[in-house]
Amino acid sequence: MTSRATARPDPIPVVLDCDPGVDDAVALLLAFRSAELRVRAVTTVAGNAGIEVVTANAAAVLDLAGAPPDLPLAAGAAGPLRGGERVPDEPIHGGNALGDVTLPVSARLPAAQPAVELIAQLALEHPGELVLIALGPLTNVARLVTEQPAAAAALREIVHMGGAAFAQGNITPAAEFNTFCDPEAARIVLTSGLPIRLVPLDVTRRTGFPRALSARLASSANPAAAAAGAMLLGMTAAHQARTGAAVCHVHDASAVASVLAPEAMTWQRAAVEVECAGELSRGALVVDALGRTDWPATVDIALSAREGVLEELLMSRLERRP
Ligand code: BDR
Ligand code: CA
Repeated sequence: MTSRATARPDPIPVVLDCDPGVDDAVALLLAFRSAELRVRAVTTVAGNAGIEVVTANAAAVLDLAGAPPDLPLAAGAAGPLRGGERVPDEPIHGGNALGDVTLPVSARLPAAQPAVELIAQLALEHPGELVLIALGPLTNVARLVTEQPAAAAALREIVHMGGAAFAQGNITPAAEFNTFCDPEAARIVLTSGLPIRLVPLDVTRRTGFPRALSARLASSANPAAAAAGAMLLGMTAAHQARTGAAVCHVHDASAVASVLAPEAMTWQRAAVEVECAGELSRGALVVDALGRTDWPATVDIALSAREGVLEELLMSRLERRP
Protein backbone atom coordinates (compact mmCIF):
# COMPACT_ATOMS: atom_id res chain seq x y z
CA MET A 1 0.00 0.00 0.00
CA THR A 2 1.35 3.40 -0.86
CA SER A 3 1.31 6.04 1.85
CA ARG A 4 -0.33 9.31 0.98
CA ALA A 5 1.17 12.53 2.34
CA THR A 6 -1.42 14.35 4.46
CA ALA A 7 -1.86 17.86 3.13
CA ARG A 8 -1.37 20.58 5.72
CA PRO A 9 -3.95 23.34 5.56
CA ASP A 10 -2.60 26.65 4.30
CA PRO A 11 -1.55 29.00 7.10
CA ILE A 12 -4.20 31.52 8.13
CA PRO A 13 -3.17 35.08 7.21
CA VAL A 14 -3.40 37.29 10.30
CA VAL A 15 -2.82 40.91 11.30
CA LEU A 16 -2.08 41.57 14.95
CA ASP A 17 -3.32 44.94 16.21
CA CYS A 18 -1.67 45.41 19.59
CA ASP A 19 -0.36 47.67 22.37
CA PRO A 20 2.75 45.88 23.70
CA GLY A 21 2.46 45.28 26.67
CA VAL A 22 4.05 42.10 28.08
CA ASP A 23 1.17 39.82 27.11
CA ASP A 24 0.93 41.41 23.67
CA ALA A 25 4.65 40.73 23.20
CA VAL A 26 4.21 37.09 24.20
CA ALA A 27 1.15 36.82 21.93
CA LEU A 28 3.22 38.17 19.01
CA LEU A 29 5.98 35.63 19.68
CA LEU A 30 3.41 32.82 19.87
CA ALA A 31 1.91 33.88 16.54
CA PHE A 32 5.26 34.08 14.78
CA ARG A 33 6.23 30.65 16.11
CA SER A 34 3.03 28.97 14.98
CA ALA A 35 3.13 27.40 11.51
CA GLU A 36 -0.68 27.52 11.36
CA LEU A 37 -0.52 31.32 11.07
CA ARG A 38 1.09 33.67 8.60
CA VAL A 39 1.54 37.11 10.16
CA ARG A 40 0.99 39.63 7.36
CA ALA A 41 1.41 42.80 9.42
CA VAL A 42 1.50 44.25 12.91
CA THR A 43 -0.33 47.45 13.78
CA THR A 44 -0.33 49.38 17.03
CA VAL A 45 -2.79 51.30 19.15
CA ALA A 46 -2.27 53.32 22.34
CA GLY A 47 -3.28 51.34 25.39
CA ASN A 48 -0.80 49.87 27.83
CA ALA A 49 1.39 52.89 26.96
CA GLY A 50 1.41 55.78 24.49
CA ILE A 51 1.56 55.14 20.75
CA GLU A 52 5.30 55.89 20.38
CA VAL A 53 6.21 53.47 23.18
CA VAL A 54 3.97 50.62 22.03
CA THR A 55 5.13 51.01 18.41
CA ALA A 56 8.81 50.94 19.43
CA ASN A 57 8.05 47.91 21.62
CA ALA A 58 6.32 46.16 18.72
CA ALA A 59 9.36 46.81 16.50
CA ALA A 60 11.70 45.36 19.13
CA VAL A 61 9.48 42.28 19.52
CA LEU A 62 9.43 41.78 15.74
CA ASP A 63 13.24 41.65 15.81
CA LEU A 64 13.09 39.14 18.65
CA ALA A 65 10.59 37.03 16.70
CA GLY A 66 12.91 37.01 13.67
CA ALA A 67 10.23 38.65 11.52
CA PRO A 68 11.40 39.63 8.02
CA PRO A 69 12.77 43.20 7.98
CA ASP A 70 10.09 44.26 5.49
CA LEU A 71 7.16 42.90 7.52
CA PRO A 72 4.70 45.81 7.54
CA LEU A 73 4.44 47.64 10.87
CA ALA A 74 2.06 50.59 11.12
CA ALA A 75 1.11 52.90 13.97
CA GLY A 76 -2.54 53.63 14.68
CA ALA A 77 -4.61 55.62 17.11
CA ALA A 78 -2.87 57.66 19.82
CA GLY A 79 -6.02 57.95 21.90
CA PRO A 80 -9.68 57.03 22.08
CA LEU A 81 -12.16 57.56 19.27
CA ARG A 82 -14.08 60.40 20.92
CA GLY A 83 -10.88 62.31 21.76
CA GLY A 84 -9.78 63.52 25.15
CA GLU A 85 -7.25 62.01 27.50
CA ARG A 86 -6.37 58.38 27.15
CA VAL A 87 -6.46 56.03 30.14
CA PRO A 88 -3.07 56.18 31.96
CA ASP A 89 -0.41 53.51 31.29
CA GLU A 90 -1.22 50.13 32.82
CA PRO A 91 1.41 49.70 35.60
CA ILE A 92 1.26 45.88 35.65
CA HIS A 93 3.46 46.01 32.50
CA GLY A 94 6.27 47.94 34.21
CA GLY A 95 7.73 51.35 33.36
CA ASN A 96 8.47 50.51 29.70
CA ALA A 97 5.39 48.29 29.19
CA LEU A 98 7.69 45.27 28.67
CA GLY A 99 8.01 44.24 32.31
CA ASP A 100 11.05 46.54 32.69
CA VAL A 101 13.03 44.28 30.34
CA THR A 102 15.15 46.37 27.97
CA LEU A 103 15.12 44.91 24.46
CA PRO A 104 17.62 46.14 21.84
CA VAL A 105 16.30 49.24 20.08
CA SER A 106 15.00 48.22 16.66
CA ALA A 107 15.98 49.85 13.38
CA ARG A 108 12.48 49.12 12.04
CA LEU A 109 10.37 52.20 11.45
CA PRO A 110 6.59 52.23 11.17
CA ALA A 111 5.27 52.65 7.63
CA ALA A 112 3.99 56.03 6.49
CA GLN A 113 0.66 54.27 5.89
CA PRO A 114 -1.63 54.51 8.95
CA ALA A 115 -2.67 51.27 10.67
CA VAL A 116 -6.30 51.39 9.47
CA GLU A 117 -5.26 51.77 5.84
CA LEU A 118 -2.78 48.91 6.09
CA ILE A 119 -5.39 46.59 7.61
CA ALA A 120 -7.92 47.63 4.94
CA GLN A 121 -5.44 47.00 2.14
CA LEU A 122 -4.60 43.52 3.44
CA ALA A 123 -8.26 42.62 4.02
CA LEU A 124 -9.08 43.52 0.40
CA GLU A 125 -6.03 41.62 -0.87
CA HIS A 126 -7.16 38.46 0.99
CA PRO A 127 -10.96 38.58 0.79
CA GLY A 128 -12.62 36.22 3.25
CA GLU A 129 -9.27 34.99 4.57
CA LEU A 130 -7.63 37.56 6.81
CA VAL A 131 -8.12 37.24 10.57
CA LEU A 132 -7.65 40.46 12.51
CA ILE A 133 -6.44 39.66 16.03
CA ALA A 134 -7.04 42.75 18.17
CA LEU A 135 -5.14 42.75 21.46
CA GLY A 136 -5.63 46.32 22.62
CA PRO A 137 -8.32 49.00 22.74
CA LEU A 138 -10.55 48.71 19.65
CA THR A 139 -9.93 52.24 18.33
CA ASN A 140 -8.24 51.17 15.06
CA VAL A 141 -10.79 48.41 14.46
CA ALA A 142 -13.72 50.78 15.01
CA ARG A 143 -12.24 53.18 12.49
CA LEU A 144 -11.86 50.32 10.02
CA VAL A 145 -15.54 49.43 10.51
CA THR A 146 -16.78 53.00 10.03
CA GLU A 147 -14.29 54.35 7.48
CA GLN A 148 -13.57 51.23 5.41
CA PRO A 149 -16.74 49.11 5.63
CA ALA A 150 -15.99 47.07 2.48
CA ALA A 151 -12.59 46.12 3.86
CA ALA A 152 -14.05 45.27 7.27
CA ALA A 153 -16.62 43.04 5.54
CA ALA A 154 -13.79 41.30 3.67
CA LEU A 155 -12.21 40.06 6.92
CA ARG A 156 -12.66 36.39 7.75
CA GLU A 157 -13.19 37.37 11.37
CA ILE A 158 -12.10 39.64 14.18
CA VAL A 159 -10.71 37.95 17.27
CA HIS A 160 -10.48 40.26 20.26
CA MET A 161 -9.06 39.90 23.74
CA GLY A 162 -11.20 42.19 25.77
CA GLY A 163 -14.16 42.69 28.00
CA ALA A 164 -15.55 40.87 30.99
CA ALA A 165 -18.64 38.98 29.85
CA PHE A 166 -19.89 37.61 33.17
CA ALA A 167 -16.74 38.14 35.24
CA GLN A 168 -15.42 41.06 37.27
CA GLY A 169 -13.51 43.75 35.43
CA ASN A 170 -9.81 44.32 35.99
CA ILE A 171 -9.58 48.11 35.81
CA THR A 172 -12.91 48.83 37.47
CA PRO A 173 -15.19 46.25 39.05
CA ALA A 174 -17.28 46.43 35.86
CA ALA A 175 -14.80 46.94 33.04
CA GLU A 176 -11.83 45.25 31.46
CA PHE A 177 -8.84 47.42 30.50
CA ASN A 178 -9.12 47.32 26.67
CA THR A 179 -12.85 48.04 26.70
CA PHE A 180 -12.47 50.75 29.36
CA CYS A 181 -9.81 52.53 27.26
CA ASP A 182 -12.28 53.08 24.41
CA PRO A 183 -15.86 51.97 25.12
CA GLU A 184 -17.28 53.86 22.12
CA ALA A 185 -14.92 51.95 19.81
CA ALA A 186 -15.77 48.65 21.47
CA ARG A 187 -19.48 49.36 20.99
CA ILE A 188 -19.02 50.04 17.26
CA VAL A 189 -17.06 46.83 16.75
CA LEU A 190 -19.08 44.48 18.95
CA THR A 191 -22.41 45.62 17.49
CA SER A 192 -21.16 45.73 13.90
CA GLY A 193 -22.62 42.35 12.95
CA LEU A 194 -19.23 41.26 11.60
CA PRO A 195 -18.03 37.78 12.61
CA ILE A 196 -16.33 38.32 15.97
CA ARG A 197 -14.78 35.98 18.47
CA LEU A 198 -14.34 37.56 21.86
CA VAL A 199 -11.84 36.18 24.38
CA PRO A 200 -12.74 37.99 27.61
CA LEU A 201 -11.39 37.99 31.16
CA ASP A 202 -13.80 35.13 31.94
CA VAL A 203 -11.24 32.89 30.21
CA THR A 204 -7.96 34.77 30.40
CA ARG A 205 -8.00 35.38 34.15
CA ARG A 206 -9.32 31.98 35.13
CA THR A 207 -5.86 30.48 35.53
CA GLY A 208 -2.54 32.17 36.15
CA PHE A 209 0.68 31.41 34.29
CA PRO A 210 2.92 30.07 37.07
CA ARG A 211 6.14 31.83 38.00
CA ALA A 212 8.05 28.54 37.62
CA LEU A 213 7.17 28.37 33.91
CA SER A 214 8.21 32.01 33.37
CA ALA A 215 11.51 31.24 35.12
CA ARG A 216 11.98 28.17 32.90
CA LEU A 217 11.48 30.31 29.79
CA ALA A 218 13.82 32.98 31.16
CA SER A 219 16.63 30.43 31.50
CA SER A 220 16.18 29.16 27.92
CA ALA A 221 19.08 29.30 25.45
CA ASN A 222 16.60 30.53 22.88
CA PRO A 223 16.70 34.37 22.99
CA ALA A 224 13.01 34.85 22.21
CA ALA A 225 11.94 32.41 24.93
CA ALA A 226 14.41 33.97 27.38
CA ALA A 227 13.12 37.49 26.73
CA ALA A 228 9.51 36.31 27.00
CA GLY A 229 10.33 34.64 30.32
CA ALA A 230 12.05 37.77 31.64
CA MET A 231 9.08 39.95 30.67
CA LEU A 232 6.64 37.51 32.25
CA LEU A 233 8.73 37.47 35.44
CA GLY A 234 8.48 41.28 35.52
CA MET A 235 4.70 41.09 35.21
CA THR A 236 4.54 38.29 37.77
CA ALA A 237 6.40 40.44 40.30
CA ALA A 238 3.91 43.27 39.78
CA HIS A 239 0.97 40.86 40.05
CA GLN A 240 2.41 39.25 43.17
CA ALA A 241 2.87 42.65 44.80
CA ARG A 242 -0.81 43.39 44.12
CA THR A 243 -2.37 40.04 44.95
CA GLY A 244 0.19 37.79 46.65
CA ALA A 245 -0.11 35.15 43.91
CA ALA A 246 3.10 34.14 42.08
CA VAL A 247 1.46 34.07 38.66
CA CYS A 248 0.62 36.43 35.84
CA HIS A 249 -2.17 36.51 33.27
CA VAL A 250 -1.04 36.28 29.67
CA HIS A 251 -4.40 37.55 28.42
CA ASP A 252 -3.50 38.37 24.83
CA ALA A 253 -1.82 35.04 24.14
CA SER A 254 -5.21 33.40 24.79
CA ALA A 255 -6.63 35.26 21.79
CA VAL A 256 -3.90 33.80 19.57
CA ALA A 257 -4.47 30.40 21.20
CA SER A 258 -8.17 30.66 20.33
CA VAL A 259 -7.22 30.84 16.64
CA LEU A 260 -4.73 27.98 16.95
CA ALA A 261 -7.05 25.72 18.97
CA PRO A 262 -10.65 27.00 18.90
CA GLU A 263 -11.85 23.52 19.91
CA ALA A 264 -10.04 23.91 23.23
CA MET A 265 -12.50 26.64 24.26
CA THR A 266 -16.23 26.62 24.88
CA TRP A 267 -18.09 29.33 23.00
CA GLN A 268 -21.45 30.98 23.44
CA ARG A 269 -23.03 33.11 20.74
CA ALA A 270 -24.80 36.18 22.09
CA ALA A 271 -25.53 39.83 21.48
CA VAL A 272 -23.00 42.06 23.20
CA GLU A 273 -23.44 45.77 23.94
CA VAL A 274 -21.06 48.13 25.69
CA GLU A 275 -21.97 50.59 28.43
CA CYS A 276 -20.60 53.96 27.34
CA ALA A 277 -22.33 56.23 29.84
CA GLY A 278 -22.50 54.47 33.20
CA GLU A 279 -21.38 56.37 36.27
CA LEU A 280 -19.89 53.19 37.73
CA SER A 281 -19.96 50.90 34.75
CA ARG A 282 -18.42 52.72 31.78
CA GLY A 283 -16.76 50.09 29.57
CA ALA A 284 -18.79 47.19 30.95
CA LEU A 285 -20.09 44.59 28.53
CA VAL A 286 -23.83 43.94 28.54
CA VAL A 287 -24.34 40.40 27.25
CA ASP A 288 -27.84 39.28 26.32
CA ALA A 289 -27.26 35.63 27.18
CA LEU A 290 -30.99 34.87 27.59
CA GLY A 291 -32.19 36.59 24.43
CA ARG A 292 -34.23 39.24 26.28
CA THR A 293 -33.68 41.85 23.59
CA ASP A 294 -33.97 41.93 19.83
CA TRP A 295 -30.25 42.68 19.53
CA PRO A 296 -28.73 40.34 16.92
CA ALA A 297 -26.59 37.61 18.52
CA THR A 298 -23.42 37.90 16.45
CA VAL A 299 -20.51 37.55 18.89
CA ASP A 300 -18.98 34.21 19.81
CA ILE A 301 -17.78 34.54 23.39
CA ALA A 302 -15.16 32.19 24.86
CA LEU A 303 -16.31 31.17 28.31
CA SER A 304 -13.79 28.50 29.29
CA ALA A 305 -10.64 26.83 28.03
CA ARG A 306 -9.27 23.32 28.42
CA GLU A 307 -7.02 23.34 31.47
CA GLY A 308 -3.37 23.79 30.54
CA VAL A 309 -3.93 24.59 26.87
CA LEU A 310 -2.28 28.02 27.00
CA GLU A 311 0.70 26.76 29.01
CA GLU A 312 1.18 23.86 26.58
CA LEU A 313 1.09 26.13 23.54
CA LEU A 314 3.38 28.75 25.03
CA MET A 315 5.98 26.34 26.36
CA SER A 316 6.09 24.08 23.31
CA ARG A 317 6.23 26.90 20.77
CA LEU A 318 8.44 29.41 22.57
CA GLU A 319 11.01 26.85 23.75
CA ARG A 320 11.31 25.21 20.35
CA ARG A 321 14.41 26.14 18.35
CA PRO A 322 13.54 28.74 15.69
C1 BDR B 1 -5.71 43.52 28.47
O1 BDR B 1 -5.27 44.76 29.00
C2 BDR B 1 -3.90 44.94 28.74
O2 BDR B 1 -3.23 45.42 29.87
C3 BDR B 1 -3.37 43.60 28.28
O3 BDR B 1 -2.33 43.78 27.31
C4 BDR B 1 -4.56 42.92 27.69
O4 BDR B 1 -4.72 43.22 26.32
C5 BDR B 1 -6.18 42.65 29.64
O5 BDR B 1 -7.22 43.27 30.32
CA1 CA C 1 -2.93 44.23 25.03
